[in-house]
Amino acid sequence: MRAMRIHRHGDPSVIQDDDVPRPAPGPGEVLIRVAGTSFNPSDLGVRRGLMPAGLPFTLCGDVSGTVTTTGDRVIGRIVAAAADYVVAPAADLVAAPATIPLAHAAAIPIAGLTAWQAVFDHAKLAPGMRVLINGAGGGVGGFAVQLARHAGAHVTATASARSAAAVRAQGADEVVDYSTTPLPAGPFDAVLNLVHLEPERAGTLVALGGVLVSITLPVGLHFVARNDPGQLAELVALIDAGIVRVDVAAVRPLTELPAVHRDAEAGRLRGKTVLIP
Ligand SMILES: NC(=O)c1ccc[n+]([C@@H]2O[C@H](COP(=O)([O-])OP(=O)(O)OC[C@H]3O[C@@H](n4cnc5c(N)ncnc54)[C@H](OP(=O)(O)O)[C@@H]3O)[C@@H](O)[C@H]2O)c1
Repeated sequence: MRAMRIHRHGDPSVIQDDDVPRPAPGPGEVLIRVAGTSFNPSDLGVRRGLMPAGLPFTLCGDVSGTVTTTGDRVIGRIVAAAADYVVAPAADLVAAPATIPLAHAAAIPIAGLTAWQAVFDHAKLAPGMRVLINGAGGGVGGFAVQLARHAGAHVTATASARSAAAVRAQGADEVVDYSTTPLPAGPFDAVLNLVHLEPERAGTLVALGGVLVSITLPVGLHFVARNDPGQLAELVALIDAGIVRVDVAAVRPLTELPAVHRDAEAGRLRGKTVLIP
């Protein structure tokens, strides 16, 4: 079967299209025929050697697909999904949304869980709160805007012209173009920071008693999203209820993974990019 792997760290050319044996599930694991995976910026860190990973390493941490033994349609945050087949712990998988194409559901796990935890666990958004979502045009932002609105918050989002319409459609009350306009003055009850932001600037955006949540360094109150299949199942329920949309900006063949990395590093990607084997 195909697996997109790195054998050494470096630029996107280190990503190889390898022919490898189909993996065999161990105790508590299942074999998934991959319908889709998706690109996340953390894959760049793995490829460059900035994040720990044993080599050779199969890239991509989101999966949607079919369990070979049962035919169950599942999604999950796993490892080594850039392949035709992948094994994963059954406990890490949840039923895929019934209302969207299975391949598109690969856009959900990492970005969706990160947004969920930012909105509900860390910022604890509630009706009437005024929130700034900085970096709403990205994969996490697409879920964060919708979940913040679902929580009843008033959403101000930053996005450039190419993402503004999508971010508005996701429910942002105001969209500020970060490429032409300074960050809005605030202060906000909560700031969800999804992009690089100078710490001294971050502090001035938050009201007294407010909360600053950041998924990127160097801003404080940084958190690293954890896997939580229970939260993932709750998110799937919101998707099937029509409350959250899965916006897939691009669908590309898995073999284009090196080109996707190049596009990401050149700032040419927006929203979620799904890759299909
Ligand atoms: N801590 C964690 O657990 C965790 C989890 C997931 C992701 N992350 C990190 O969080 C960041 C976002 O992840 P992602 O998946 O959403 O990334 P992404 O999809 O690659 O985000 C790309 C978007 O960032 C926007 N952007 C770039 N510079 C900006 C700026 N100065 N101001 C506002 N928006 C800007 C662009 O929006 P426009 O299209 O509007 O130009 C672009 O569409 C990445 O650094 C990722 O590594 C951390």
